[in-house]
Order: sequence, then C-alpha cells, then structure tokens
Amino acid sequence: MRLEFDDVSYSYEGKSAEKKRKGKKEQAAKAQWGNAPDARWALRHVSFAVEPGEFLGIAGHTGSGKSTLLQHMNGLVHPTEGQVLADGASLARKEVAAEVRSQVGLVFQYPENQLFAATVFDDVAFGPRNMGLGEDEVARRVEEALGQVGLPFEQLKDRSPFSLSGGQQRRVAFAGVLAMEPDILVLDEPAAGLDPRSREDFLDMVSRFHAQGATVVMASHSMDDLAARCTRILVLSEGEVYLSGAPCEVFSDGERLKAVGLGLPSPAAFAEALRKEGFPLEEGFFSEEQLADAIARALTPAAGGKGEAPLS
Ligand SMILES: Nc1ncnc2c1ncn2[C@@H]1O[C@H](COP(=O)(O)OP(=O)(O)OP(=O)(O)O)[C@@H](O)[C@H]1O
Ligand SMILES: [Mg+2]
Repeated sequence: MRLEFDDVSYSYEGKSAEKKRKGKKEQAAKAQWGNAPDARWALRHVSFAVEPGEFLGIAGHTGSGKSTLLQHMNGLVHPTEGQVLADGASLARKEVAAEVRSQVGLVFQYPENQLFAATVFDDVAFGPRNMGLGEDEVARRVEEALGQVGLPFEQLKDRSPFSLSGGQQRRVAFAGVLAMEPDILVLDEPAAGLDPRSREDFLDMVSRFHAQGATVVMASHSMDDLAARCTRILVLSEGEVYLSGAPCEVFSDGERLKAVGLGLPSPAAFAEALRKEGFPLEEGFFSEEQLADAIARALTPAAGGKGEAPLS
C-alpha cells in the first residue's frame, strides 16, 4: 500500500476554533502560517509519500509534529486541511479508513501504557478479534506474533501483562499490532525509555521486519538509530517538512540540522571534529563502519592517504 500526504495541515483545535477567530482581527493574524508562536498548527502543508518497501525515518525535535504525523497514517487523526490517500483513495471515506486501519499497524509512543486485558493472550488477540476473525485464526496469530517479538507463548499467554517487565510489556503491545498482520508498520519512538541492550534488540527486530518485506515508518529522537536503519529520512521542524532524503544526503550538512535543534549521528559528528583538527577525512558518511574505513584509508599511504605509518 502506498500512503500519500497531500498538503496536510492539522490543528488540535480543529476547524471550529479557526472559524471563531475569524471575526477577531488580531487573533486571525496570529493564526497565519509561520506566525503562530504558540504552535497552534501541529502540521503545516505536509506533502510526501510512504513508498512500499521503504524504511522511512521521521526525525524532529520535541513538538515538531512526529506523533501527530504518524497518527494520520492509519486514520486515527484526520487532516484539518488537505488529505491522506491510500493507493489514491482518501481516508476521509469511511470504507477506506476501515481498510487502512487493518493494514497500517500503529505502535504508539510508550505502547505498554495501553495494555488493558487480563491476560497476555487477550491483549494480543484484541486487534484480530476486532477484525472479525475466527478464534482458531486468532489463536494462530497470537502465537505467531508473540514468537516474532521473542516472547514464549506457552509461558506467558495466561499471565497478566501487568506482571511483566517494562521491556516485555512493550513487546506484548508490539505483538498486538503484528497480530493484525499489517502491510505497513508505523512506530513512534519504539526504543524510548529502554535500556541500551533492549534498545538494540528491539530495533534489530524492527530491521528484521523490514528485511522480510514490511514497509516501516519510525519516528525517533536518535539520529544514530535512524542513520543506521532507514532508507530515507524526513526531518520535521515546527510541523513542516524541513528536509527529506537518503541518510547520506540528510546528514551531509551538520549546520543545517543544528538550525532545527538536531545533531549529526555520532560517527558523522566525530568525523567533523577530526576534520576541524586538520585530519584529512572525506565527507559524506555516517555509520561506524564507514568512519572506520575512512580513517583507515587516511592512515594508509598505499591507499593514497597522507599518514606516516600503515596500521599494521
Ligand atoms: N493532544 C494534544 N492537544 C493539543 N496539542 C497537542 C496535543 N498533542 C500534541 N499537541 C501539540 O502539537 C504539536 C506537535 O506535537 P507532537 O506530539 O506531534 O510532536 P512530537 O514531534 O511527536 O514530539 P515528541 O518528540 O515530544 O514526541 C506540539 O506543539 C504539541 O504541543
Ligand atoms: Mg511524539
């Protein structure tokens, strides 16, 4: 499925609040684009598409509109202006929105806060049951989804989700979305609040789903997480699309990111610091492997570097 944002703007106050302001001159002026210091518009004229098979990262400082954008993707939130299209059909149409809700799996920020059922089984089964599937199929999906997130079905199915650790609870919440077998996975800060080891495990799991053919959209504060995993990155600032491109393009200019409160991924920041010290390093990379290669090349005379001695 291809999801397209066509000039989408969103205000949490809705259209009615905008209308009310119309009579009052000075407040109406305040609501103009680019002139709303109180961030009345959470999204402004956003246009882009999620292409099938890509791993799209959504970056942006706190309050830049990442969560609001993601919630438009499965029709949970509808644009105040503009439209969201799924394979060309507007989500404003009820039947399109219903179809999209079963095909776009949205995992909220801190999804463990939304666990509610008495058992792990019932929690994961909630989505599939809502889709009207028979109990046999529901059971098959629950078992498979728990396996996919690395949780033992037999051991946990009858436990209360609230008796599990935070990391396990997040996996249960994630399994609840996977059990709907979505075409597109939309993840809002999936690693936030996890310890470093669980973070890596969780993100590796997401990368595996992408490698197996899922389309993935992931919002994150961490440039390192996005740089290492995404095929494309969209940077939001104040509700607008500020930059969009492959990681190497988006991370080619540290100053441009600094201007909207973001930094470079740590390997790229380290490379920039080395260049400032006069160390001859080529431009245009952002992963640890690429950084290591570039340093090795710069230190190896045979490869054209200016270093005094080879590494070995
Ligand atoms: N429920 C809400 N009611 C009113 N305003 C909201 C609501 N949720 C978000 N906003 C506002 O909308 C704007 C965008 O918020 P959003 O949560 O989408 O940003 P974000 O990029 O996800 O932030 P974070 O990185 O902190 O998660 C902000 O100005 C925020 O204050
Ligand atoms: Mg958010």
